[in-house]
Amino acid sequence: ALSFQHRYEPATTPEAVPLLLLHGTGGDEDDLLPLGRALSPGAALLSPRGQVLEGGAPRFFRRLAEGVFDEADVVRRAGDLAGFVSAARAEYGIAAPLAVGFSNGANIAAALMLLHPGVLAGAVLLRAMVPLSDPPEARLTGEPVLILSGRMDPIVPGDNAARLAGMLKQAGATVTHEVLPAGHGLSQADLVRAKTWLTGRP
Ligand code: MLT
Repeated sequence: ALSFQHRYEPATTPEAVPLLLLHGTGGDEDDLLPLGRALSPGAALLSPRGQVLEGGAPRFFRRLAEGVFDEADVVRRAGDLAGFVSAARAEYGIAAPLAVGFSNGANIAAALMLLHPGVLAGAVLLRAMVPLSDPPEARLTGEPVLILSGRMDPIVPGDNAARLAGMLKQAGATVTHEVLPAGHGLSQADLVRAKTWLTGRP
């Protein structure tokens, strides 16, 4: 059996890149299925549930406080998720997925890119922040990454998101970072921007 509780929806458009959907704190494997369907109709969707519980709320890694991460746990959980992705690819016969992550899910997606290059074909990071203060030198090969930040986000400081964009660029990703007139929650603009970007992906 695969190591994460998850949902999988097979593709009806086989040429579409599969999406790995990563929910925010307190979410689960059902949360982002509608977002995935809206962003890329017909794409295969792989949606795991985070294995850390914070007062009952599922997450993808432990934190010491809001915005203060247990980095050893980030490393461990990114490894677990990388293992799940490769097992799921074998099980379902799918290509390397592009992650669509929100908040905590965006942060673990960023950690996956930095720690396990090759697992993800790219990423849409919604309200992401720097997951590791001093990541190893990753060797990405131009994987496309879209970071959408909220100008009024009370959880993610603007300079933190900009630092993440710089880190991913430094690691070799092709990064587009946009700041939307939004808070930490998603807005209609996120959907429109992400869908447009996915459609014309570099
Ligand atoms: C995190 O813990 O990853 C960030 O604080 C975002 C969140 O999940 O609230």
